[in-house]
Amino acid sequence: MDDFKGKTAFITGGASGIGLAMAQEFLKAGAKVMIADIRQDALDKAVKTLGGGDKVRAIQLDVTDRSACAKAVETIGKVHILCPNAGVFMGGPTQDASFDDWDFVLGINLGGVVNIVKTFMPRMIAAGEGGHIVLRSSIEKMYASGGAGVSNPPKFVGDGVGGVLAAGCRRGTRPAPRRGSRCWRRRSRCGPGLPWPTR
Ligand SMILES: NC(=O)c1ccc[n+]([C@@H]2O[C@H](COP(=O)([O-])OP(=O)(O)OC[C@H]3O[C@@H](n4cnc5c(N)ncnc54)[C@H](O)[C@@H]3O)[C@@H](O)[C@H]2O)c1
Repeated sequence: MDDFKGKTAFITGGASGIGLAMAQEFLKAGAKVMIADIRQDALDKAVKTLGGGDKVRAIQLDVTDRSACAKAVETIGKVHILCPNAGVFMGGPTQDASFDDWDFVLGINLGGVVNIVKTFMPRMIAAGEGGHIVLRSSIEKMYASGGAGVSNPPKFVGDGVGGVLAAGCRRGTRPAPRRGSRCWRRRSRCGPGLPWPTR
């Protein structure tokens, strides 16, 4: 996608950190943004930070709640750039993590991505306007320091989920790109300061 004007970016975890930074960049590029977050107070603050106006919308959403995701997709119009970015961090030695710790982190950082992609991607394809899915990773994926504990495995979601989506689309397996659609075929990897190839 080269022209962001008239496009809409939907960003989960968009009320702070990386998600908010993405929203700022997409706005600068001319897109409209819809930020979703579990924290309403943070959303209110983020909307102000983003300058409000008709290009910024916000929705409270817990990405682990599948029925809430299904409701959200009904109320949100067309999405062209999907950023399932909501995440939490829990560090410390992996051997000390409880099952609850694993469930909490994997539920948001991996399950949340699955829920959002599964809910939104079919509509993006059906709309036939192309699109882009942005999956966040981490330097910890390349150089596991041991400090990221239970937060480390979901950092592979970009390669795991993104890789099969891109490969499946290239091979014409489901989800199939629409005939004539320019998108759903290209996979980009971007790592500021890192030796990741873009392709
Ligand atoms: N900050 C970094 O340098 C960095 C680098 C690589 C990866 N990460 C990972 O990226 C993710 C986000 O990092 P960040 O620094 O932007 O954190 P952040 O806490 O600033 O932002 C995450 C946002 O996600 C929201 N959120 C949490 N659970 C949610 C849920 N269930 N539903 C909807 N929204 C939810 C939070 O309210 C928050 O606004 C984390 O998983 C982190 O481990 C961060």
